[in-house]
Amino acid sequence: MQTNRDQSLGLRLSATSRLPLYRQLFDAVVARIHDGTFPKGFRLPPTRALAKGLETHRNTVVRAYEELAAAGFVESTVGRGTFVAAPLVAPRPTKAPPPRAPMPWSTLMSPSVTNDVFTRAERFAHPVASTDAVLLNRLQPADELLPHELFRRCIERAIEDYGSKAMGYAPISGVQRLKELIAHDLARQGVPATPDDLLITTGSQQALDLLARALISRGETFLVDEATYPGAIRLLAAAGARLVPVPCDDEGPNLAALDRLGRGAKGCYLMPNCQNPTGRRISQARREELVEWSHRAGVPLIEDDYASDLNLDGRAPPAALRTLDGEVLYLGTYSKKLSPALRIGYLLAPRSLKDRLELLKHAMDLGTSALMQYALAEFLDRGYLDAHLRVSIPRYRARRDALDAALKKALPSRYHWSSPQTGLALWLPLPDGPDAEAVWLEGQKHGVLVGPGTVSGVTEAGRQGLRLGFCVEPPGRLAEGAKRLARALAAVDRREVKPKTQLEVV
Ligand SMILES: Cc1ncc(COP(=O)(O)O)c(C=O)c1O
Repeated sequence: MQTNRDQSLGLRLSATSRLPLYRQLFDAVVARIHDGTFPKGFRLPPTRALAKGLETHRNTVVRAYEELAAAGFVESTVGRGTFVAAPLVAPRPTKAPPPRAPMPWSTLMSPSVTNDVFTRAERFAHPVASTDAVLLNRLQPADELLPHELFRRCIERAIEDYGSKAMGYAPISGVQRLKELIAHDLARQGVPATPDDLLITTGSQQALDLLARALISRGETFLVDEATYPGAIRLLAAAGARLVPVPCDDEGPNLAALDRLGRGAKGCYLMPNCQNPTGRRISQARREELVEWSHRAGVPLIEDDYASDLNLDGRAPPAALRTLDGEVLYLGTYSKKLSPALRIGYLLAPRSLKDRLELLKHAMDLGTSALMQYALAEFLDRGYLDAHLRVSIPRYRARRDALDAALKKALPSRYHWSSPQTGLALWLPLPDGPDAEAVWLEGQKHGVLVGPGTVSGVTEAGRQGLRLGFCVEPPGRLAEGAKRLARALAAVDRREVKPKTQLEVV
């Protein structure tokens, strides 16, 4: 046991800090236990003595000691004093393991992760960029547009209101209050939904994963666009799907092609409002035809509405597929319009399928974070999301326009692109070269990161382009990014890089 001579223990409390004095004392003692200054068994001074040493009220010290004891940092015994608690398990000395034959990981891994799609993804996983590289490769909200202060208030409120309930496992299909708010919001967008139709998922990525696992047996056909969301390609490939690309015309997926290619397919994955990566939108007429086709062919439509509400020109998109047909599997997320860190998405599915998906989700993760769901519900209920969108959409519009203008200035006139109405990225087609992967590599040397069509293309044509995200960087940096990209394109052009071979899919 140790005793202390200095009755203030070298601690200081600040009258001007935002934190109350007892919290400052709590934090200071915890920090000293953590760095070993107050070792196991260390005796803290009596409350009266420490209060005197710190020139504070005794109640401050009593409260700090009580909270330290409740949190498990100290133990108090009447008549003996307050001591730093012993660690639960004494640290064990580590020793080097004896030499053993290594595990044959390359043969143990299944085709779910050794397929071509994953091998290619690995090539793009770690771009090398200087610290001042312009980031046009991201599809996520800008750091300065993440409303962390507002969200902090909602987390605090969720803990105050729900206490231990917010810290436990959530109901399997999601927190009821959140489902009610989402159903209400979907109704505003014309998508009919009740809370019972909804499954809250850990990001909409999990919703896609659930569908892939629930629908696909190895080798079965799944229909996708010629270029599509790389995260969907990977999940579908991991589930063993044979990805069949469907060509598009100006209005959306070509119906004759669907009739030809769709026999026996287990699903057709679409992003009708803002196709990733091209930004294309499916027309109202084609949506109606797609729904008719889906029922004729017995192939479910998967509608990924990841960019909902991010309508940059204030014009609502045509009615969702799910509005036209209650059997469409509809996915939404708060990652793009609010924050990807929430990891909250949702899936609308017909009841018979939803019940199975719910069991599958439970097997996968035992539920999406209850705390985040309660906090998000609070955020939505307070109207914070609407207010947030009122601020962020004009900023994204300004960024889109800045990138568009800068590209017009920097690129040769043979490049053509469309300015997207929705979402966070612009697609720059490269139909006659240069090769997208070569530009991605060259861009790194010139200090600009882009999204190469190589990861989103399912056909050679689908790979010829670059996805340029305009959400992360402010307008001035986007202009700089466009100049750097123009230099990278010119450098690749000069080298006359040959196109890569056809992408193979599982
Ligand atoms: C088209 C599309 N769908 C789904 C997702 C998954 O998003 P999250 O899991 O964060 O909801 C993304 C993420 O980039 C996306 O681009």
